[in-house]
Amino acid sequence: MPRKLFVTTALPYANGPFHIGHIMEYTQADIWVRFQRLQGHKVHFVCADDTHGAPIMLKAEAEGISPEELIARVAESHRRDLARFGVSFDHFHSTHSEENRELAAQIFAALREAGFIATRTIEQFFDPVKGMFLPDRYIKGECPKCGAKDQYGDSCESCGAVYTPTDLKNPFSALTGATPVMKKSEHFFFRLSDPRCVEFLKSWTQDGRLQPEVANKVREWLDGGLNDWDITRDAPYFGIEIPGEKGKYFYVWLDAPIGYLASLRSYLEKKGLDVAKVLADPKLEQIHFIGKDIIYFHTLFWPAMLKFAGRKVPDNVFVHGFLTLTGEKLSKSRGITVSPQKYADLGLNPEWLRYYLAAKLNARVEDLDFNPDDFLARVNSDLVGKYVNIASRAAGFIAKRFAGRLSEEPLSAGRELKHKLRGNVAAPAPDDEEQVPAILFEVRSFADQIAADYDAREFGKAIRQVMFLADRVNQYVDEQKPWEIAKEAGQEAALQWFCTLYLELFRILTIYLKPVLPKVAEDVEAFLGLAKPLTWEDVPSALKPGHVVQPYRHLLSRIDPKQIAELLEPPAEAKPEAPKPAAGAAPEFRLEPVEPPKPAPILPVGETISIDDFGKIDLRVARIVDAELVPDADKLLKLTLDIGIETRTVFAGIRSAYTPKELVGRLTVMVANLAPRKMRFGESQGMVLAAGDGSSIYLLAPDAGATPGMRIK
Ligand code: 2FM
Ligand code: ZN
Repeated sequence: MPRKLFVTTALPYANGPFHIGHIMEYTQADIWVRFQRLQGHKVHFVCADDTHGAPIMLKAEAEGISPEELIARVAESHRRDLARFGVSFDHFHSTHSEENRELAAQIFAALREAGFIATRTIEQFFDPVKGMFLPDRYIKGECPKCGAKDQYGDSCESCGAVYTPTDLKNPFSALTGATPVMKKSEHFFFRLSDPRCVEFLKSWTQDGRLQPEVANKVREWLDGGLNDWDITRDAPYFGIEIPGEKGKYFYVWLDAPIGYLASLRSYLEKKGLDVAKVLADPKLEQIHFIGKDIIYFHTLFWPAMLKFAGRKVPDNVFVHGFLTLTGEKLSKSRGITVSPQKYADLGLNPEWLRYYLAAKLNARVEDLDFNPDDFLARVNSDLVGKYVNIASRAAGFIAKRFAGRLSEEPLSAGRELKHKLRGNVAAPAPDDEEQVPAILFEVRSFADQIAADYDAREFGKAIRQVMFLADRVNQYVDEQKPWEIAKEAGQEAALQWFCTLYLELFRILTIYLKPVLPKVAEDVEAFLGLAKPLTWEDVPSALKPGHVVQPYRHLLSRIDPKQIAELLEPPAEAKPEAPKPAAGAAPEFRLEPVEPPKPAPILPVGETISIDDFGKIDLRVARIVDAELVPDADKLLKLTLDIGIETRTVFAGIRSAYTPKELVGRLTVMVANLAPRKMRFGESQGMVLAAGDGSSIYLLAPDAGATPGMRIK
């Protein structure tokens, strides 16, 4: 039975061009969606610009244009990049739309009717010069705890303290510098603390649908008690005015996810379909791809809003980590980012990036590291050197010697040719009824496992299997040496048959890679002269005997290291530090510039130990499930490590190099059998491994695919 899917990515803020983190999320969702479509499932894949809120209003004002002009300009840039990076949204809409206004009003009215909206008068900082209430991030002052100057209204960057803006000493407006005054205003609250809501969320979030690390995080929030959610903002505000409440607007985070439905509705109406009917279908699965910074909104507010407005709730939320940028070359200068616009403008192939991201993505909430050297190696040696290579090895002979015509012999007839061949490698696999050569049987037999990995968002695993098969095929070609067969008299039939087999193997690998490389797959379909685009069902249906293929044109070039150097060239003039996003604003995908590392002194190698000495150390892969600052210990972070069988608390002296936030979710290596050590703050139950010392500390990390508890030997 074909599945019916409604899939979204997080809606990007309409305040600027995409950064590389957006492209990563869209690529992840797009690969998944394309895979589902190749399986014959029906997908509505939509997105929209998230256009409302104070930051967008203030940015437009600073540029001297209207917010409408700003969001129109940004929408154009977003659309252009979506096309350039091959993201197959069916529709890209806007939260500043009639559909969204109507849906937001309906959902709010339904929640009010059901008793989920409370009214309360609150007191907030107000900028008397600007004449507006100040969002927390626009209030600065001195930290109430450590006295550090110029701290934001919600937390101190110096000591890590978390507080409310009214706790700040000597507060001032970051917009005008004025001293803010307290002012009262009536606000609407969504009653998340209502027992009905809590009960529903406990079940929806803890029934096994969410990724385990997401469910755990949400459970902590639930255990800590849920607060009602302030959904009102006062004018001036760029947003949706609350019907009947002059000067009161919905907070951007209320109308943003409703934008998912607005986009779906706009799309379906264009196609003449009824959105209510589509959403009422019990088979419809609603899935949101998001980053780890907006879990709260998508696993608490959003399902609860939908549920108590009497609507369909999401079936799942797929969370990914952030994209970071490392690599020695990059850390040498400040201000380096991987700009998707520059990437495309320089003519770098978007499918290179899609392939690299796919090779590194998995179903966990792990950060993904963009490493330029690794990018170059994977694309050049794996994608081009292994996969594309198969086609180019066969295509030349087929074109030059056989005018593009494939062998008339069916692939199962290879065994008849075997006496002319080296060894018996064309023999069929013993348990194969079709009697095709073992290599073909093997490549076909991976279809289900690769499909399962795509479906589970284990793209890295899928790619590893495809590359394993590409290696096997290349080995097979090396054994057969078609270039030698080509020189032997009377061996034309064998040469043609072998090259046909190579192209058939290549065709199957192309199906396996098609979710990741849609453009390459399209070119392969044209080259092979296929009557219709490849789908997963086509794995067993081989190229027909005597079929004629088109002249081969190279499918994918290698990356020239110079192109990467150009891409990563630091901006001509040092960029001013980007402002911190407002709470709940654009995720920190911006790739942080790193201080140039000071060369570490190279110490002489230590005393020789025996293998038995080494064997005493029980090293394990550990996942950092939590990380926190340790009060009064400025070098330490308290880490909670999952080592598969148990969790450990470790105090690690890595605070100078890492913030707690960037560590959570990562894998590292720990000494699991180190005697526990009592410290002032508690017991440290092991040690994590890091290179460097003092100012430059580099935590060790296993390669993707390792899981907590694995022994390291
Ligand atoms: O964090 C963000 O970038 C938000 N613009 C995401 C909104 S997702 C949905 F709720 F609209
Ligand atoms: Zn402080």
